[in-house]
Amino acid sequence: MSPKLPTDIETPAVVVDVALLERNMATAARIKRESGAKVLLATKAFALPAVFPMMREVLDGTTASGEYEARLGRETFGKEVHVYAPAFSEPEVRRLLTLADHIYFNSASQLARFLPMVKAAGKQGSAKHVGIRINPGYSNATVGGALYDPCAPCSRFGATRDTLDEMPWDDIEILHAHALCESMADGSAGLIEKVGRDFAKYIGRVKAVNFGGGHFINKPGYDVARLIAAIKAFREKFGVEVILEPGGGLIVDAGWLVSTVLDIHRNEKDIAILDTSASTHTPDVLEVPYTPRVVGAGKPGEKPHGYILGGKTCMTGDVIGEYSFDRPLKVGDRVVFEDMAQYTFVKNTTFNGTPLPDIGLLEKDGTYRVIRRFGYEDFARRVGA
Ligand SMILES: Cc1ncc(COP(=O)(O)O)c(C=O)c1O
Repeated sequence: MSPKLPTDIETPAVVVDVALLERNMATAARIKRESGAKVLLATKAFALPAVFPMMREVLDGTTASGEYEARLGRETFGKEVHVYAPAFSEPEVRRLLTLADHIYFNSASQLARFLPMVKAAGKQGSAKHVGIRINPGYSNATVGGALYDPCAPCSRFGATRDTLDEMPWDDIEILHAHALCESMADGSAGLIEKVGRDFAKYIGRVKAVNFGGGHFINKPGYDVARLIAAIKAFREKFGVEVILEPGGGLIVDAGWLVSTVLDIHRNEKDIAILDTSASTHTPDVLEVPYTPRVVGAGKPGEKPHGYILGGKTCMTGDVIGEYSFDRPLKVGDRVVFEDMAQYTFVKNTTFNGTPLPDIGLLEKDGTYRVIRRFGYEDFARRVGA
């Protein structure tokens, strides 16, 4: 889909389209309404307080990957704050006890170490809900192979089945089973059904089951009714609350990365060097890896003018992909990458002193508003200048 972006946007810029974000929120609202599940935003995918007031109207809160995200959720989103990490340090747990309402541990050893602190906080009036993340042994990540599969062999995520009997179930309120990544409804329903089949004995001990993120609920083709039916069946069978905590699934296709061609270089092929960079601005392009869609461009050979699109860092592999265009690219042309609101600005770095992209909002009335512009100070402060 082509965004109606003003032509004078300064680049590089991550532009979040408020209307598209609202469209995505409507899916979350439907899931909540029809299934009775709670839906949280995983801020690891998208931490943008400027749009939290609108998201807060639908969602039940946020889920964090550690102290800083928990604090951001507490201070800028409100409602419920959940937090999970593969391991916490003692000072982190101490601070989390003032920030989060729900704390999920990854192992029997972390539980044993921190349960006394959590209980002591409870006695002083700040009651926390304790969860344990299990490894359900369910592989369904649709991208990135083992790199993005929480249940890949030797994964560090979640207590393994053989350790569950020894857990202090009297103190655990939530079973957490995050296993998906960009999964369609078959994956979501498959996970819910597998956990119901294989872990029934433990579900009987808790009040809620959190089926994590990775439910790609706003991806075209995702069968939302199937997810809703699976949640309803699970809730009816076990009488527990169900929680989902998607990140990407709430944000998919709701934003753009707008860049400008700085030069056309020739080395066997035409190479357009952009003012953006895979390495610093869209690291998932290299990590997953994948080739993002570009507005108006086709695959190599589909259109008459072929280009490799590359970043401006020193890293040889800082290449976004190979594309073709109807017309030759020239210096100053705009290149717009699709689906760039999730897992982009939250992961950006200033490697090479590369300027960070603006973060902007395309408002519903078509106006463009820069939320945050970064400068030399953001680079310099991080290296201690
Ligand atoms: C524990 C947990 N919850 C939620 C999420 C969000 O996943 P996604 O953005 O794929 O929906 C992740 C992603 O890594 C995660 O590890």
